[in-house]
Order: sequence, then structure tokens, then C-alpha cells
Amino acid sequence: MKFIIGNWKMNGTTSDKELLLKSLKNVHTDNKVIICLPFTLLCGNDFGTTIGAQDISEHSNGAYTGDISGQMLTDLDVKYVLVGHSERRLYHNETNQIVKAKATAAIKNNIIPIICVGETADEKNAGRTMSVVKKMVLESVPNSGAYIIAYEPRWAIGANITPTPDEITAVHETIFKTLRGIKKENTPIIYGGSVDAKNAAVIANLDHVDGLLIGRASLKSDTLLPIIKSVK
Ligand code: 13P
Repeated sequence: MKFIIGNWKMNGTTSDKELLLKSLKNVHTDNKVIICLPFTLLCGNDFGTTIGAQDISEHSNGAYTGDISGQMLTDLDVKYVLVGHSERRLYHNETNQIVKAKATAAIKNNIIPIICVGETADEKNAGRTMSVVKKMVLESVPNSGAYIIAYEPRWAIGANITPTPDEITAVHETIFKTLRGIKKENTPIIYGGSVDAKNAAVIANLDHVDGLLIGRASLKSDTLLPIIKSVK
């Protein structure tokens, strides 16, 4: 079983959601499919697909205008939440410490956080990928509870370019060893960044790759279904 997780980012209306989730209903797969929707689409899931959110407040309730708490997500039957996506880190100044607090809030509410890490192009070019990713993992994970790590190199997001299979394996192995060092070696590690129907099966079957996190190609059934079907 591999995780196939869609991240809709700031896209989609109720009819888009209905179209995609209806099409997923008839797909037979051993993979665990999860679609992380914008907050506005989390209410009312009659289609059977597991849904996730894209962010969670680190606070439990109170005067935090515009924020959404773990209790509010649980109330809508949300089981997974992305935390520390590179777009949140970049546009909302989320640090590893904030990401850890958000992941901790998710676990407190029985929601599994999908903790995103990944180096920038400059960090990659400086040969710092492994040290950057290792630090992000160690500083972003909660002290206890189950979570998923998503490796998303920033330079591969929305770019039609992916690391080579060897590069992905090497980073995932580093993440695996980092997690083993804190006795979390059973944590799933998924890859994200320009995944499509052409590269999904190859990437998903690499060593230490437990699934995929998919942006653009998760928005429509004609791009998502071939990915789900190709990953065995
Ligand atoms: P793309 O698949 O569109 O490159 O996005 C990746 C991503 O950021 C998923 O979280």
C-alpha cells in the first residue's frame, strides 16, 4: 500500500470537488488515497474518499481571526493535515518551531500531520540538501505520535522537473536514518514535486518511498486516476 495524497492548494470549488470525488468512488486500488482540500471544501464528504486539510492552527481556540483549529477539523471528520508545506514556510514565514507546534496540535486532535520538508535550489546547488533536510525533520516533528514525512524539494514544485531516482532514494534514505535515530523508523516517507502519470510508478517504487504528494495533477480525474492506477 502506498499513500497517494493530493494537495489542491488554493484551487477548486464545490463542483470541482464533487466531480473528482465521484470519479474516485469507482477506482479499485490498494493505495491509500487522500485529498487535501482548501478549508472551504472540507464540509460534507459523502463520497468515501479520505479528505485532509492543508493547514491547522497551533492554538486550540480563541482570538486567532481566520485560523482553523484541530477541533474544528475533527468536527468535519478530517483525518490528515499538511503542515509546513514550502508555500506556508515561504509566504507565511512558518519556521520549524511553528511547524512542530502545528503537528503537535494535529496529533492532540487525532489528526495525522503530513510534515513537509525540502531544500531550495540554492541549498541543493551548495551541496547542502542532506543537512538541510535532516535539520528540518528533527526540528519539525512532534515529540510523540504518528506522522508522515513528505520530501518536497522546493525547486521541483510546480516546475515540471524532478530529482533523479537516485537523488530521491538518497534523500529518503537520509530521512529514514534520521527518523530511525529518534526511534520513528516506521514513519511513512512520501515524495512530492512535479509528480505525474509518467513518473509516478517509478518514484513510488523506489527504496524508502512510501507514496506521493501531488499538486497540479491531483486537481482533475484525467490526471489523477492514471497515477493511482499506475502505482502498484
Ligand atoms: P506539483 O505536483 O504541482 O509540483 O506540486 C507539488 C506540491 O507542492 C504538492 O504539495
